[in-house]
Amino acid sequence: MKSEILQLLREAARSGSFLSGQELCTRFSVSRTAVWKAMEQLKAEGYEIEAVRNRGYRLKAEPEDVYSAAGIRSLLETQTIAGSLQFAAQIGSTNEAAAQAAREGAPEGYLVAADRQTAGRGRRGRTWISPAGCNVYFSVMLRPQIRPDRAPMMTLLMAQAVCEAMEELCPASAPESVRPLIKWPNDIVIDGRKVCGMLTEMSAEMGDVRYVVIGVGINVKRQEFAPELEGHAVSLEEAWGIGVSRSALTAAVCNRFEPLYQRFLREQDLGFLRRPYLKRLVNAGRQVRVLDPAGEYDGIARGINETGELLVELPDGTVREVYAGEVSVRGIYGYTE
Ligand code: BTN
Repeated sequence: MKSEILQLLREAARSGSFLSGQELCTRFSVSRTAVWKAMEQLKAEGYEIEAVRNRGYRLKAEPEDVYSAAGIRSLLETQTIAGSLQFAAQIGSTNEAAAQAAREGAPEGYLVAADRQTAGRGRRGRTWISPAGCNVYFSVMLRPQIRPDRAPMMTLLMAQAVCEAMEELCPASAPESVRPLIKWPNDIVIDGRKVCGMLTEMSAEMGDVRYVVIGVGINVKRQEFAPELEGHAVSLEEAWGIGVSRSALTAAVCNRFEPLYQRFLREQDLGFLRRPYLKRLVNAGRQVRVLDPAGEYDGIARGINETGELLVELPDGTVREVYAGEVSVRGIYGYTE
């Protein structure tokens, strides 16, 4: 109810009107005290709400950044993604919590978001440093009816959704150099520096996917990065010079992801994504080194195929298809990752 009230307060504020307490009671079939409590909770989260006798409530100002379940929910436009949502001030890993929820029967689209992670997981067994108050950490749990070897494609869908969401929040006047681009398959970069990492994990049995968890970590506020990341990482606020709401960003990613995911389920491949993805692919036309267990090689990245593999053109003109789950590609962070 709190997030719906917030949504209604926003709508009323846009037309300069008050939201009647009595109407809220009727709409949600609750007492005046329950409405008052919801307002008090919103105020405690930093929303400035005025209460005027005989007129109702009016939203005067929103805090710049409330990262909360109500903040995210109030901006969602989805049917299933984040339809059920868990928010924690602190958690071990949102990926782990989403997997746990999946094992306990959580529905498709279940979202776990947190302000801080104490055991944030990165790729290849690395730690994802996850301090409080400055970043976005969330995981979406899905139960797609696909072959397990197709699960890595979902990371590409999420990368596209994250880019689109960032574009939505980026100032219109921002130059091309601070627009988000995709480093295939797991990272989003701005001006050559990593702003977002993704970790897709899956549970499968006998050729069937039980569930997939896509974890997303986005650097949002200005912050001091760990010494080994200095110069290789960037935050949205640093790149854009404006305040970015973490709730709005999380909701925007979910809103963008849902239609891409639905289309993927219908078509069972990424043919529809090839063109938009290529526009955002930072590797495109650039030299990459493919760290294939069977032997490293260099080539020029040319885009993705309909199963999300990276197309790499070798010096002799032949094109190899690189599968995301098997190899690592270097070349955007100066051959270091
Ligand atoms: C990487 O680039 O190494 C992937 C980083 C993925 C980090 C996110 S933060 C939310 C989710 N929970 C985790 O424990 N990891 C992912």
